[in-house]
Amino acid sequence: VKIALVSDTHLAARAVEFAANWRHVGAWIRSQEFDLVIHLGDITADGASNPAELAEALALLSVAQTEIRYVPGNHDIGDNPPGPGVTLDEHAFDPIRLQEYRKIFGADRWSLDVESWHLLGLNAQLFGTGTAEEEDQFGWLRSDLEGRSGHVGLFLHKPLFRDSADDAEVHVRYVPAAPRRRLLQLLAGKNLRFVISGHAHQGRQFVSDGVDHIWLPSTAFTIPAVLQEKIGEKHVGAAVLQVSGGHYQIELIQLEGLKNFNLLDHPHVYPQIAQLRKRLAEATAS
Ligand SMILES: [Fe+2]
Repeated sequence: VKIALVSDTHLAARAVEFAANWRHVGAWIRSQEFDLVIHLGDITADGASNPAELAEALALLSVAQTEIRYVPGNHDIGDNPPGPGVTLDEHAFDPIRLQEYRKIFGADRWSLDVESWHLLGLNAQLFGTGTAEEEDQFGWLRSDLEGRSGHVGLFLHKPLFRDSADDAEVHVRYVPAAPRRRLLQLLAGKNLRFVISGHAHQGRQFVSDGVDHIWLPSTAFTIPAVLQEKIGEKHVGAAVLQVSGGHYQIELIQLEGLKNFNLLDHPHVYPQIAQLRKRLAEATAS
């Protein structure tokens, strides 16, 4: 079974460059005849603020002509706090938006049996929100995993951590420490083999405690060094996941025709970038 993996498409009718990149990805998906596409979230440019972008993104995504499974990102339904008592400067998780998301993209958590693999999609934006939705998801996961013994692959928008489960860094990039522990406890004793995430706009593959961790690049843009630390590879792209029997193979790929857009060049999509650019220019001048 051959699955295309894509992330952080940041689509909206007004985000014309990101939509142009997606059309290249869509053509590639059609040409390779994938069985399925899994989208790792940040589907929309800013569906969290403007729900109309959820439907706009879905319409643009249809050029792939292949079934797509989704997990939501911070730009789709708002963000979770990175740690207890930490306030966000971004749009906070919005339960109303989650309802709208579900109507358009389907369940925000799901599981799928492919050959001897149990593939799990989770809503990372709930972790640490202390909401009934977060509890529901943990309850769902507990019963979903009950009695399972096969290989497990996990898909969610945010990486679990930078390098290891014990990392103490508090950062919006990662699943917060307390829900991360809870999640890993539920998965302990299950045959977790890989965790695939988006969000960082950087491509990366590493092994921690015998589990493969894969960070998917964005199909839309990268974030320059002045705004974001480089941890993996800053390049747009996608990935291919192949599962057969108990084995799996994953390959990060840089697609031909995809433009390596820089977030700083897109203030028309993210107006806050215009202020940032101004501040950066002032800092350089002084
Ligand atoms: Fe994100």
